[in-house]
Amino acid sequence: MEKEKKIERVPSGIRGFDELMEGGFPQGDTVLLTGTPGTAKSTFALQYIVQGALKYKQKGVYITLEEHDKDRLAARALRFGWDLPALEEAEKILIFTPELQPELGEDSLEWLEKSGAGKLIKEFDPQRIAVDSLTVLLAYAKDYGGERRIVENLVNSFRFNATTMFINERKISDLDKIDFQTEEFVSDGIIYLQFIRHGNLYRRGINIVKMRGTNHDTGVYPFRIEEGGGIIVHPSEKLF
Ligand SMILES: Nc1ncnc2c1ncn2[C@@H]1O[C@H](COP(=O)(O)OP(=O)(O)OP(=O)(O)O)[C@@H](O)[C@H]1O
Ligand SMILES: [Mg+2]
Repeated sequence: MEKEKKIERVPSGIRGFDELMEGGFPQGDTVLLTGTPGTAKSTFALQYIVQGALKYKQKGVYITLEEHDKDRLAARALRFGWDLPALEEAEKILIFTPELQPELGEDSLEWLEKSGAGKLIKEFDPQRIAVDSLTVLLAYAKDYGGERRIVENLVNSFRFNATTMFINERKISDLDKIDFQTEEFVSDGIIYLQFIRHGNLYRRGINIVKMRGTNHDTGVYPFRIEEGGGIIVHPSEKLF
């Protein structure tokens, strides 16, 4: 019998989180990070890329369609102690802040090709990629023959054989009452970020909805966002 191939793990770099999923994401998989506004999706994705470079010596690419000003992005990251320009200078990470112009018929996939970003990423050969967000990419995508085709096309085109995180924006926060979207079936894993109300205050919560090939925890855990550290999950304190 052929020897079973072991699934390699890519740690998220989020303190307290990896122990909930056997040490990390399955290498090469596509993970969706989903949540309503302000649930720390961008912070999580950036931390995945920055800690990948700092702690695990893995090259990372961060593509954001939400912030067009690299200096503003850098200033925000510095609040968590992450020096993006220095990491770029050292060729440990690449950051793209494209401003697509759908009114001119510009399409997400064409951008990758025409801007030269696709070629640059291929040459850089990153182990990690984060795209902020798939929702925006989809909004700027031409119809390649049905919703599932569009999503699969985009997800595959932005994967580059890396372990890739796509942010997915949600409008409704109650996971029990919503229809899942096509991208959630197409992705290998889903991480859900949310606010949970306790009387007159909201706490931040995180849970793993799915992670193919992984015996992951299904609890909702509290997390904090800390100055100089970023996101910290507290696996010892389940919210439910
Ligand atoms: N330096 C900081 N220290 C502590 N908390 C912070 C800091 N910076 C931001 N936050 C918190 O993180 C939240 C924003 O996080 P982030 O931008 O990652 O969320 P998001 O889910 O990407 O939001 P959006 O849906 O708007 O893109 C802020 O609203 C704030 O509550
Ligand atoms: Mg964001």
